[in-house]
Amino acid sequence: MKLTFPDHFWWGAATSGPQSEGRFNKQHVNVFDHWYDIAPEDFYNYVGPDTASDFYHSFHEDIKLMKEVGLNTVRTSIQWSRLIDDFETASLNPDGVRYYNDVINEFIANGITPVINLHHFDLPVELYDRYGGWESKHVTDLYAKYAEQCFRLFGDRVKNWFTFNEPMVIVDGEYLYQFHYPKIVDGKKAVQVAYNLSLASAKAMAKYRGLDHNNNGKIGIILNLTPAYAASADPADQAAAKMADLWTNKLFLDPAINGHFPEKLVTTLKKDGVLWQATPAELQLISEQTIDQLGVNYYHPFRVQRPEISPDSLMDWMPTKYFNDYEMPGRVMNVDKGWEIYPKALYDIALTVRDDYHNIPWFVSENGMGVSREERFMDANGVVNDDYRIKFMHDHLTWLHKGIEAGSNCFGYHVWTPIDCWSWANAYRNRYGLISTNIHTQVKTIKRSGRWFADASKNNGFEA
Ligand code: GAL
Repeated sequence: MKLTFPDHFWWGAATSGPQSEGRFNKQHVNVFDHWYDIAPEDFYNYVGPDTASDFYHSFHEDIKLMKEVGLNTVRTSIQWSRLIDDFETASLNPDGVRYYNDVINEFIANGITPVINLHHFDLPVELYDRYGGWESKHVTDLYAKYAEQCFRLFGDRVKNWFTFNEPMVIVDGEYLYQFHYPKIVDGKKAVQVAYNLSLASAKAMAKYRGLDHNNNGKIGIILNLTPAYAASADPADQAAAKMADLWTNKLFLDPAINGHFPEKLVTTLKKDGVLWQATPAELQLISEQTIDQLGVNYYHPFRVQRPEISPDSLMDWMPTKYFNDYEMPGRVMNVDKGWEIYPKALYDIALTVRDDYHNIPWFVSENGMGVSREERFMDANGVVNDDYRIKFMHDHLTWLHKGIEAGSNCFGYHVWTPIDCWSWANAYRNRYGLISTNIHTQVKTIKRSGRWFADASKNNGFEA
């Protein structure tokens, strides 16, 4: 049976500045650049962001390949640490301006709509050292100034803006679970940072909407949603899944779309003595600046069970005092990466957006499969025959299609990622691209999945 998607569906892919460009000609150092400079051993095979996939130099050729695999839209991000010279005044770096203009123009010249994100985990490290980064409200103002520069410079051509990619990962990685620099463990700071990120997003949106010319563009946020499924019907597991959903999903979804934080979560954080500092004026701004459209990154579900020990125990505050991971027997896994594969979650997300979030326009802004040692699947011509990735996309798109048929307002599907890129501390361990990169020669080759995607895009659907 052929599955056909809505007219003008976005068949695209996503990458980011810090993961693709390389550090060439960059005036400032972001937190990942810095982390690599001080602890290269924390990065898989000691590979850092210096070259990444060399997009800084090869964007002309790379964008041609993106066109060849059928992408009609591509998301990347502007690096604050490249575009801005002085963070306090948001003065511009001339090479940064030239570079992002060239990239945006090149996308458009190739018939690809550029989708631009403003922050992808890449805080300039100076702002961390000077102010504590996202712990500081001053930094939210500096971010809004930088965002305004972006809108003014590129808003004549860019009509789809996103303020943040996965703000929850900043909270989890930097302040709770130690997978991003500065690897702090501090629940109270984590809660404040979560709030400040929603505030920063609202401030940037206010700047956008305050401009004379935004050319009917749209602005939103990109959130990683991990639907929380309870291990059983037992009320304790059900309650754990509710809290997990509030913390991992609704903490950002609710203010972004409904303009306020979930009440149950606020009450809990207050009772636990970790609630954020907020002013009435800030909360007013958050309530006014809700998003036009939502990006959803989905990779894997979140299986949850009751915590092992009671939340009333004496312990430092962590959200996980309310829930524990649950390893469901018989689950389908991508073993190397350690992630469960559960395509039906996209259908569940589609219905959640339809029913709980006013059916706001949304798209899948990242979905994909990270696979290590892909040379295993490479033929004599250097083509990776990644049938597992084709199946992954096919199955996720099939469930997404059911969600659309059920009335969910989804307008696109972006794969992570167009071209194998640098994946933070995992560096190049797992490959996600429709196009492979040889990190030694920078030779790029379309994978079998790239050909499949080109067909799906051309036909606006596929045979299921
Ligand atoms: C996401 C992130 C991307 C990419 C991807 C695959 O969380 O937004 O930058 O790294 O994971 O690991």
